[in-house]
Amino acid sequence: MRSEEQKIIYLQDYKPSDYLIPKTEMWVDFTPERTRITTDLHIERQVGVEDGTPLELDGEHLELVSIAIGDEVLGAGQYELSESGLKLLDPPQSFVLSTVVDVEPEKNKSLEGLYRSSGNWCTQCEAEGFRRITYFLDRPDVMSVFTVKMVADKDLAPVLLSNGNPVDSGEMSNNRHFAEWHDPHPKPSYLFAMVAGKLDKISENFTTKSGKKVDLNIYAEPGKAELCRYAMDALIRSMKWDEERFGCEYDLDVFNIVAVSDFNAGAMENKGLNIFNDKYVLADPATATDQDYALIERIIAHEYFHNYTGNRVTCRDWFQLCLKEGLTVFRDQEFSSDERFRDVERIDDVKGLRQSQFVEDSGPLAHPPRPNQYEQIDNFYTTTVYEKGAEVVRMLMTLLGKETFHEGVDLYLERHDGEAATIEQFIKCFEDVSKRDLSQFQKWYTQAGRPQVSYTTAYDAESKQFTLELKQTVPATPGESEKSPMVLPIKFGLVSNNGDDLGWDSVEGAEVRDDLIIMDKEDVTVQFHGVSSAPVVSLFREFSAPVTIQTKASLEEDLHRARLDGDPFNRWESLQSAILNIVSPSMAVDGPALDLDLLDQVASALSQTLDSQDMSPSFKALSLRLPNYQDYAQRVGENINPDHIKSIKRDVDRAIAERLRGQLVSLYSALHLPDEYEPNAEQSGMRSLRNQSLSLLAALNDKQIFEMVETHYNEAQNMTDRQAALAIMCAYAPDRAEPLLAHFKENFAEPMTVFDKWLSLNASIDDDRTIDRIHSLMADDRFSLETPNRVYALFGSFTQGNPTQFAREDGAGFDLIADIIMHIDKFNPQVAGRFAVAFRIWKNFESKRQNAARTALERIRDMENISPNLSEMVNKTLE
Ligand code: ARG
Ligand code: ZN
Repeated sequence: MRSEEQKIIYLQDYKPSDYLIPKTEMWVDFTPERTRITTDLHIERQVGVEDGTPLELDGEHLELVSIAIGDEVLGAGQYELSESGLKLLDPPQSFVLSTVVDVEPEKNKSLEGLYRSSGNWCTQCEAEGFRRITYFLDRPDVMSVFTVKMVADKDLAPVLLSNGNPVDSGEMSNNRHFAEWHDPHPKPSYLFAMVAGKLDKISENFTTKSGKKVDLNIYAEPGKAELCRYAMDALIRSMKWDEERFGCEYDLDVFNIVAVSDFNAGAMENKGLNIFNDKYVLADPATATDQDYALIERIIAHEYFHNYTGNRVTCRDWFQLCLKEGLTVFRDQEFSSDERFRDVERIDDVKGLRQSQFVEDSGPLAHPPRPNQYEQIDNFYTTTVYEKGAEVVRMLMTLLGKETFHEGVDLYLERHDGEAATIEQFIKCFEDVSKRDLSQFQKWYTQAGRPQVSYTTAYDAESKQFTLELKQTVPATPGESEKSPMVLPIKFGLVSNNGDDLGWDSVEGAEVRDDLIIMDKEDVTVQFHGVSSAPVVSLFREFSAPVTIQTKASLEEDLHRARLDGDPFNRWESLQSAILNIVSPSMAVDGPALDLDLLDQVASALSQTLDSQDMSPSFKALSLRLPNYQDYAQRVGENINPDHIKSIKRDVDRAIAERLRGQLVSLYSALHLPDEYEPNAEQSGMRSLRNQSLSLLAALNDKQIFEMVETHYNEAQNMTDRQAALAIMCAYAPDRAEPLLAHFKENFAEPMTVFDKWLSLNASIDDDRTIDRIHSLMADDRFSLETPNRVYALFGSFTQGNPTQFAREDGAGFDLIADIIMHIDKFNPQVAGRFAVAFRIWKNFESKRQNAARTALERIRDMENISPNLSEMVNKTLE
């Protein structure tokens, strides 16, 4: 049942804290049974706050042992304890509050606060986990200088880490030892971290641009340290890049990363002590794929970049989450683009955005990058806050130009250094450097939903005039029916017959700067004078704004751009949309049969791309990835029958594969890679091209091809190829996949990261046995619902990668996931809440599936003792 005290928190209610805590000292004593935490908080009432104003400290699951102000032990009457905290009734103006609390990390399965992972102690405080460690003002605008002294048994926890710099350590009696850490940078409690345990490490150092030497360490569970080499390499490159591109220089003597095997999210940017889900750290060619390497590089960079965008300048309140996350994702995207192939990275990022954020935006959970209300902040670590937040920052760069944009970021980091800032303050910095009014632009942060753009074009040969009419509408989203027009930076080109961009003499109707139209009204008519011949217009090059283009281009235009557009993004995009445009009438269940002949021309454009000397293997590989299930489903929009979509997709893939068979086979066999595996962009592009060729060939459902896939598996020299072969078999020939999966488990799945791949592959198989298969996988000794990586591997792959089985007509897939969510909610509400996201598409299905999903959702909603996290998610989804 929805609990009565479920509280909605509103942005407009923000009030600065009455008290601040400039200094915090902690003594932490780890023993196997419990951890005792003694805290001295140096508290000060803010100027202007009345005498006698009570102080409400957050605290949950804490056992209070003692409490004192200075030397005076407090008695009943001076404070009140509750489930959610401790209230000092009449605190003095300035004082030291000493508390002693006990916590039980062994029993903490929520993986928030202090908990144990493989026997080691570690913490996760963002967003509100610190209140499970000690009483505190657990909000991001209360920043404190922390000193932490940790004590533990030398054998149980030879490694003792916290934020900042190590200042002291030594031996104690009874085989115990201590370490003291001091972090000179005031920080909010969500950036606090501790790790105590048995860990191996690798070390390097880095000299900053001003000549300061920094010790770098990456810690992992015993025996796994060597698997951290690539992460270390990525860290060093990140540090260098951040100095060069953003002028950000590291500011402590040490930078530590710890990889743990139980972690709810990907990683956490605690000051000087990043804690990672180990799947985003550990890698070697035998266990990690090219994609894993790329993700490790990304996430290592992301957390490191937070040191400025997040830590040096933090968020005033949690509504501002995208201030640090959107900006930091933008930075990690830029890092990967500079380190790898920019065009390919961009296409990949946009694919990701469409696959998750667009879906969120079109469903019941739509919200702006800066929401104005929430119940549980942990439910707002969403793709809209992260990925759309990054798109908004990217648009700022496009709008202002790279140079002015960087001046704005510089100003932001300087003006707000050491502060907790807001989106308004961020935007103000760009207004100040550009002298441009960005108030309308700011709607990107506050208005949910995605503009739908349509356009028409006309060319008059006589007057050499080209007219482009653009229109935007923003569809209503839950709770927001009135929308106003957004500022759209539209990068564009007028593509001529031979592919060159045409110029013009003059233009009117909108602000046009070089290759950029700035559209800020609902309707805009842009007139270009002096255009020498009829162009094919190429809009939103580089995907310069996160919109959906509704106008269906003619096949001719799509193919012209697919062949000749000067912008690789639109070249890729046009081929995809040519296919979707051809197929979309047939995607409705009662639509006309698919006319496969129309695909001839698409196949020949694709063939031309594959033959081209100018295109990189990774770009070719992306082109070979024909629109996937989600792309089709988004086109259909509603009344979806996944079986129908899947069968259409198969027909399309097969038709194209038939037309390209010879070329694909020779691509696969002719590409030769160096003997030594390197996870770099060049090599991974080549592997990807081979694997994509094979994958498309598999759509032919041909015995000879399946034998090639088996050989590919057997001869694979690295996990990338091995996993690709298995994935192809799981997708196209489940019966042939079975023995390979068994072989894989037997021979390769020893490390948990590989075991997880095995789980995912199993759950991705589209046949009626998959639900039974999942039940037996759950019985495996190494499976546990308490470890998020196992859950994400098995059920994430099922809900995201197996739409036909998840959305079975008989509801068995929905029921399975509902059961799992309800089970997990009892001990880990964050993970339960995250998984509920799988249901956000439920209203898009045809009625039978919709009803089945509703029944499952209602069952969750009505469960006893549902957590506030899950309750918020399920209620919003059902609304
Ligand atoms: N700040 C972390 C990151 O971006 C993620 C923290 C996730 N926390 C949560 N409660 N979901 O890298
Ligand atoms: Zn982040």
